Amino acid sequence: MLNKSNIPKHIAIIMDGNGRWAKKKGLPRIMGHRQGIERVKEIVGACKGLGIDTLTLYAFSVENWKRPRPEVNTLMRLLEQFVKRELNSLIKNDVRIKVIGRIDELPENITRLLKETEFITKDNKSLMLNLALNYGGRIEIVDAVKAILKDVLKGSLNATDIDEEVFSSYLYTAGIPDPDLLIRTSGEMRISNFLLWQISYSEIYFTHKYWPDFRRKDLEDAIGEYIKRERRFGGI
Ligand code: IPE
Ligand code: IPE
Ligand code: MG
Repeated sequence: MLNKSNIPKHIAIIMDGNGRWAKKKGLPRIMGHRQGIERVKEIVGACKGLGIDTLTLYAFSVENWKRPRPEVNTLMRLLEQFVKRELNSLIKNDVRIKVIGRIDELPENITRLLKETEFITKDNKSLMLNLALNYGGRIEIVDAVKAILKDVLKGSLNATDIDEEVFSSYLYTAGIPDPDLLIRTSGEMRISNFLLWQISYSEIYFTHKYWPDFRRKDLEDAIGEYIKRERRFGGI
């Protein structure tokens, strides 16, 4: 049984397999991304319904710039459309949007739109939706080190006071508890530079389904599996 006491508070998802989903159907990759957006809407609604506190979605990595320009442009356009079209519904559903990643390096209109969206939804409480955009786990750690160094040199932080908690507070995810459950779709069994620091004790769930085929029921299956696991955190 899924109930509020045993479900994961924070779920992170590596939404992978859009391109292969399309290819399997003889469609252009962009159709996979379009269908992927439909699943984002469905899974956000499902998380809200289940009482999950935080959902973090890996939408675009710092390495994804290596893709052909037309695909990158399409992804940016789809992202813009998603935010614009869904904003009212997200507000109505009390969803707070936060972007993690190097947001200032995105196209200017998108950076502005995302900052506005974060501001408009900042007081919403039912579900926190983190969108990992132009995100890389290693660069996040490097950025944290730089920010820490700056504060130490400025004198506002004592080097001897730096511990795990202080370090975490310099990450893009400052203040957000670590993911309890990390899901990756498409059958790939790797992390691809996602939340390297934050997933140290996350339960990991891999499924062969491509992201455009990942439905509410699949999310419930993943949570069901999570509930059966015993988390020991190094203890016995
Ligand atoms: C995930 O699907 C979406 C993004 C990385 C933006 P892919 O586009 O990686 O699809 P595959 O892995 O090539 O099938
Ligand atoms: C990870 O998927 C990034 C996102 C889902 C946004 P990729 O498709 O980029 O990862 P690799 O290249 O297969 O590791
Ligand atoms: Mg992929």
